[in-house]
Amino acid sequence: MGIYTNRESLLASLLPWRNSKKIGFVPTMGALHQGHLTLVDKAVKENDCVVVSIFVNPTQFNNSEDLEKYPRNLDADVALLNSLHKNIIVYAPEISDIYGDKITATAYDFLGLEHEMEGKHREGHFNGVGTILNILFRIIKPDNAYFGEKDFQQLQIVKKLVEIENLPVSIVGVPIVREESGLAMSSRNNRLTEKQQKEAVLISKTLKEVKEQFSSHTISELNRFVKETFEKNDQLALEYFEIANEKTLKTAVEKSKNEKYRAFIAVFSGEIRLIDNMALN
Ligand code: PAF
Repeated sequence: MGIYTNRESLLASLLPWRNSKKIGFVPTMGALHQGHLTLVDKAVKENDCVVVSIFVNPTQFNNSEDLEKYPRNLDADVALLNSLHKNIIVYAPEISDIYGDKITATAYDFLGLEHEMEGKHREGHFNGVGTILNILFRIIKPDNAYFGEKDFQQLQIVKKLVEIENLPVSIVGVPIVREESGLAMSSRNNRLTEKQQKEAVLISKTLKEVKEQFSSHTISELNRFVKETFEKNDQLALEYFEIANEKTLKTAVEKSKNEKYRAFIAVFSGEIRLIDNMALN
């Protein structure tokens, strides 16, 4: 496995794979778990060479404490990737290799996708995500790039980014990987105590109930059900729950025929923010 911390050496390692070979790319912020490994596995199957980037991107954090506390463990990540596949290329750059001495985000217009849900609660987040991915796509020039549906809004925005920037990369969405308990896998789960992990199962359980009740209940009934479920729980604080149109990500008030809907949720367990989502129809 090659591990590169600057773009020149990464580019040199990619030279043999340019032109006739397919390059797959899995961007991550490290603290790898089974969800990431599923993306890597798919990328390995569908490409000749796979680059995994490990970079905690400062411009997508709107909360400095969250950035500071974001789990980082490069050695464990590399060991995990190594145990999975021997010929993965890891790009783990320093901040200066990406941003030079100007750590700033581009202001993007993702046609409104960026103002929904996460966008309302994490100001500037998607500008940071767009900025880092635009930089990484332009360095790596992958044929395919893999993203988990856990960050479903991010996935839709990345598709839009690629259109706006006219980048020749296919964006591949991969279903959420869950713990046996139903909890969506996330690097942030590392920061939960065992008790908090058990409590957090309520998030996926509630989404499953919403899915089961979707055809027989109105959206406002389902919104009320979720609000009341979390009001009864003193360990988890609901930040938002929304049923939204899967394509536009606009909040749904009523169901329309032939439209696809998804439930989206963000919950705090103490100071740790967890998100999840589920297709409803
Ligand atoms: O989903 C993530 O981990 C990050 O937002 C990403 C795509 C690696 C960009 O920093």
